[in-house]
Amino acid sequence: MGIEKLIRKDLLSFGGYSAATSPETLDGKIEIATRDIIKMDANENPYGCSPRVQQALVKYKQFNIYPDDGQERLRKMLSDYIGVDPKYIVAGSGSNQLIDLLVRLLVARGDEVINCTPTFGVYSFSTRLCGGTLVEVPRRNDFSIDVGKIKSSITPKTKIIFIANPNNPTATLTNRKDIEMLLETGVPVVVDEAYYEFSHQTAIPLTKKYDNLIVLRTFSKWAGLAGLRVGYGIFPSEIADFILRIKIPYNVNVAALVAVEESLKDTEYLLASVNKIIAERKHLFAELKKIKWLKPYPSKANFILCDVLKGDAKQLYQQLQSKGILVRYFDQARVKNCIRISVGKPEHTDALIKALRQIGGE
Ligand SMILES: Cc1ncc(COP(=O)(O)O)c(C=O)c1O
Repeated sequence: MGIEKLIRKDLLSFGGYSAATSPETLDGKIEIATRDIIKMDANENPYGCSPRVQQALVKYKQFNIYPDDGQERLRKMLSDYIGVDPKYIVAGSGSNQLIDLLVRLLVARGDEVINCTPTFGVYSFSTRLCGGTLVEVPRRNDFSIDVGKIKSSITPKTKIIFIANPNNPTATLTNRKDIEMLLETGVPVVVDEAYYEFSHQTAIPLTKKYDNLIVLRTFSKWAGLAGLRVGYGIFPSEIADFILRIKIPYNVNVAALVAVEESLKDTEYLLASVNKIIAERKHLFAELKKIKWLKPYPSKANFILCDVLKGDAKQLYQQLQSKGILVRYFDQARVKNCIRISVGKPEHTDALIKALRQIGGE
């Protein structure tokens, strides 16, 4: 019997999520040693986590004990940090897990999810996995969302509207007025603020006014905890209760818990790193602008999208990879022939610009 007969038919052609390349998988394939690879492909924090996290994890003695499944202390810590009651908060193994749980909770086979493309791939990934139908509403030329088209795409089957704010990979912001117009429709709206600490714009105050608003945040970017996987969401309280019910037990591990606690005690240090990244974003943008065959787009996040005006983005990605610099490339509509570069340290900008100039024959 072929295994295909057992697998859900709609998943036989499922492509999966195309994640960033791990440096260790390049070992022996490129001439650069793994430890020398410059990662500018996954919007991680080049300054790492708080030193307090490292110290606390070395001392931690209870890795043999499961974490609290109801996340009570974690939710209280997050509540103190963002000023929202814990009953609205749920944490996940990365905000990715919360996207996945929310889609599982709301989207049954045949239900619709509105996705403002080009955008973060996990929204479509989870929708497809649940057998939902993606309704793509392309962003305008300046990458702003098209509120009129979104509203006219809503049907009785629409279960979620996803807005990444700032958006990945375009790094554009959606203004509060547009978000409110979507909230007025009554459809659940997810405002994904994975890059909030770099943009300083948040929809959290609107959670008091709208019971169809969900805001997602993560410790992956600003707090340098991408590898420990911890994110959180602010949900209407009934939805938070259901998310807690349907999540896998113990979904946030104890190391992540310790890391959150220490990070929240060291926000001054972490926000200083964020400020360095914001300053470097300006420098990287100015340097990329000097390269005639690239067109960088302004950014409110910790990455910059660039149109490759001459040559092929995939080839450029490969050429940079062979020089030990990792970036992402895109070939979907509206970002065809684009690369996305995460903001690194000043020395990473220098190495990237030197490599780009070599590739461009300058
Ligand atoms: C818009 C957006 N949301 C969510 C995530 C996922 O973050 P996490 O590491 O918390 O799963 C990312 C990561 O790249 C992202 O770009």
